[in-house]
Amino acid sequence: MNIVMIGAGNLATGMGIALIENGHKIVLVYSRSEESASLLASKLNCPFTIDLSKIKIDADIYIIAVKDNVISDIVMSYNFGDKLVVHTAGSVPIDVFSGYCKNFGVLYPLQTFSKNRIVGFGNIPICIEANSNENLEILRRLATSLSSDVRPVSSMERQQIHLAAVFVCNFVNHFYTIGEILVVEKGMDFGILKPLILETAMKAIESSPATVQTGPAVRNNKQIIDKHLQMLEKQHEWKEFYQLISNDIYKIQNNQ
Ligand SMILES: NC(=O)c1ccc[n+]([C@@H]2O[C@H](COP(=O)([O-])OP(=O)(O)OC[C@H]3O[C@@H](n4cnc5c(N)ncnc54)[C@H](OP(=O)(O)O)[C@@H]3O)[C@@H](O)[C@H]2O)c1
Repeated sequence: MNIVMIGAGNLATGMGIALIENGHKIVLVYSRSEESASLLASKLNCPFTIDLSKIKIDADIYIIAVKDNVISDIVMSYNFGDKLVVHTAGSVPIDVFSGYCKNFGVLYPLQTFSKNRIVGFGNIPICIEANSNENLEILRRLATSLSSDVRPVSSMERQQIHLAAVFVCNFVNHFYTIGEILVVEKGMDFGILKPLILETAMKAIESSPATVQTGPAVRNNKQIIDKHLQMLEKQHEWKEFYQLISNDIYKIQNNQ
C-alpha cells in the first residue's frame, strides 16, 4: 500500500520501518518540525513536508501518529476526501473522525515504541477498528501484513486495554526507575536488579501474575514493611506508593 505518515515520533518511526520492511511504501512523511520530519523521511527513504496542506498525495491510507491531543486538530485541519484515515492511539475514540472524514479507523499496536529502538512487529497485537466492514477489511489486510495477532476491538475495549497497558508497562517502568535510583544512590549499579526484572516478567507471562506474587506484602511481614517505610522517610511519594501498593497486594491476595 502507498501510505502517508502524519507524525514522525516514536510510533511513526517504528511503524514506518515495519511497513516498508513488509512491502509497503511510505510516500510522504509530515511532521510539525523539519528536524523530526526529515529524520524519519531519511530512514524511510521518502520525501517529507512540514506543511499539512502539502500532503495531497494519492495514497491508499493516511496514518495519523501524533500526540493524542493533536489528532483532532489534524482531522479538522485537512480534508482527506474519501481517503482512508486512521489514528494509532489507545485512548482516542474512533468518533474523533466523525463529521470530518468519510473513511476512517484505528490501527493501535499494543507495544512500547521509542524512536531509537527498532521493535519487531511480527507478534505484536494490533487492535483495529473502522467505520465500515470494507474499511475494517482493508485495515485487517494491512495489519496482517505486519503481525500475526490482529484483533478487531471497539473504542471502549481499546481504552480498557490502554488503561491496563499503563499499569503493566508505564507504571512498571517507573518502578524500575525508582529501583535504579535506590541502588545507584548507595553506589551500586542497576545491573544487580536485571535478572530479577527478567524473571518477574517471565513468571507473570507464564502464569496469572496474582498466583506468583512474592515479597513482604503478600507474606504480611509488618516488621520488614515498617523498616522499608522508615528507609523511605525522605521520599514521601515513594513511601506512599509503597504503603498503597502493599495494602493492595494484601487485599487482592486475600480476596478482600
Ligand atoms: N510510543 C508508543 O509506545 C505508542 C504505542 C502505541 C500507540 N501510540 C500512539 O501513537 C501516537 C504517537 O505517539 P508517539 O509516542 O509516537 O509520540 P511522540 O514520539 O511524542 O511523537 C509525536 C508526534 O506528534 C507531533 N506533535 C506533537 N505535538 C504537536 C503539535 N502541537 N502539533 C503538531 N504536531 C505535534 C510531533 O511533531 P514534531 O516531532 O515534529 O514536533 C511528532 O511527530 C499517539 O497517539 C500514541 O497514543 C504510541
